[in-house]
Amino acid sequence: GAPVVADISGLQEGQRLILEWRGQPIWIVKRSKAVLDALPTLDSRLRDPDSENADQQPEYVRKANPKLRSLRPEISVLVGLCTHLGCSPEMAAEIKPEPYDPEWKGGYFCPCHKSRFDMAGRVFQGVPAPSNLVVPPHHYADDNTIVIG
Ligand code: FES
Repeated sequence: GAPVVADISGLQEGQRLILEWRGQPIWIVKRSKAVLDALPTLDSRLRDPDSENADQQPEYVRKANPKLRSLRPEISVLVGLCTHLGCSPEMAAEIKPEPYDPEWKGGYFCPCHKSRFDMAGRVFQGVPAPSNLVVPPHHYADDNTIVIG
């Protein structure tokens, strides 16, 4: 499939842009400083906090930041499909997922079998999804333009 180009000049903190690439939903999310600061505090509860599973992101993304899983700290690019059976998780920055988690700091929640991921798409322990959400191949053509694929 052809690469998909996204203009992120209007993307606000906390917003998610949804595109399609190769028949898959692609999410581009702008994360706040508070969200970024919360990510490292979750490591002990995650299955793969340092993005060691090479299938889940390009090597250049892991190298750029294995915990944030992004080329730029604030901008997260993910394939919006649960790594369990492919449902589309909800972005749950505010709502609390079931079962209730008093420590929830926002992330993605899959309604199909209750898998949960943090705001870097890193999967929590003890849920059906085996691995982090996939980061698709992408790069910046300029400050406001992301090319997926
Ligand atoms: Fe997401 Fe099963 S498809 S938890």
